[in-house]
Amino acid sequence: MKLVRTRQELTEIVTQWHKDGETIGLVPTMGSLHEGHLTLVRELDGKATRRIVTIFVNPIQFNNPDDFQLYPRGLDADEALLAQTGVVDVLYAPDETQIYPPGFCTRITVSGPDKMLCGGDRPGHFDGVATIVTKLFMQTRADIAAFGEKDFQQLCIIRRMVTDLDLPVTILPVPTVREADHLALSSRNRRLTAAQRQQATHLPQALQDCLAALKAGKPVAATLERCTQTLKDAGFAVHYLDLRSEKTLAPSEKADPGTRLFVAASLGDIRLIDNMPLA
Ligand code: PAF
Repeated sequence: MKLVRTRQELTEIVTQWHKDGETIGLVPTMGSLHEGHLTLVRELDGKATRRIVTIFVNPIQFNNPDDFQLYPRGLDADEALLAQTGVVDVLYAPDETQIYPPGFCTRITVSGPDKMLCGGDRPGHFDGVATIVTKLFMQTRADIAAFGEKDFQQLCIIRRMVTDLDLPVTILPVPTVREADHLALSSRNRRLTAAQRQQATHLPQALQDCLAALKAGKPVAATLERCTQTLKDAGFAVHYLDLRSEKTLAPSEKADPGTRLFVAASLGDIRLIDNMPLA
């Protein structure tokens, strides 16, 4: 695995790969890698002949400067983890100048699905995500890119963007990877104290209880309210707990197949998100 730090070196590599008829698989990340990221890498088995993982903590998708500063980072550990997989060809870890050169002033604007869920309390977040993901698609010239369903809204927005902008890349969705107690893997979990990590178990538990109640025919609004209260009682600040269509992300009053529960809740200053499908 080669560590590449500049856009120019990356361009030389991917241009040669395309000449040689290789297909390029991309896993874009912000580092602090865990088993969830490695699953994204493995899901490209048989779908790409070359694999690039990118690590870039993208400042323009953080609406809170403290959150950006505190985002966990550790390139050496990430590099070692990826090298161990034996299947990653390039780790692209650019600094800010390679991504946002002086004078940078062009952004992708997402409308509609960015105003709800995480877009509601993180204004500009999805514009920042759409912009960096497009730049990474262009820089890596990826044919296929893997995204986790844990960030389901992000996945929907990227799929929509690929259609809207005719981007020549296939999006591969990958189911959420969970700890033994069902907490969704996330780089942010590293910031939880031991006590918060215990508390965090209530998040997937509340979603599972909520799903069970909805499947048993309990009314949607009252069930969501009860689960929200359970999370508050467990010490969470709840940003949202919604039942929404998987396709449009519109709120659903009926617990039908094709709907999904979405939650964002914080423990202290650590914001956790999760989602689970009804069917
Ligand atoms: O999901 C993430 O880690 C980030 O939002 C992404 C897609 C790498 C863009 O910075």
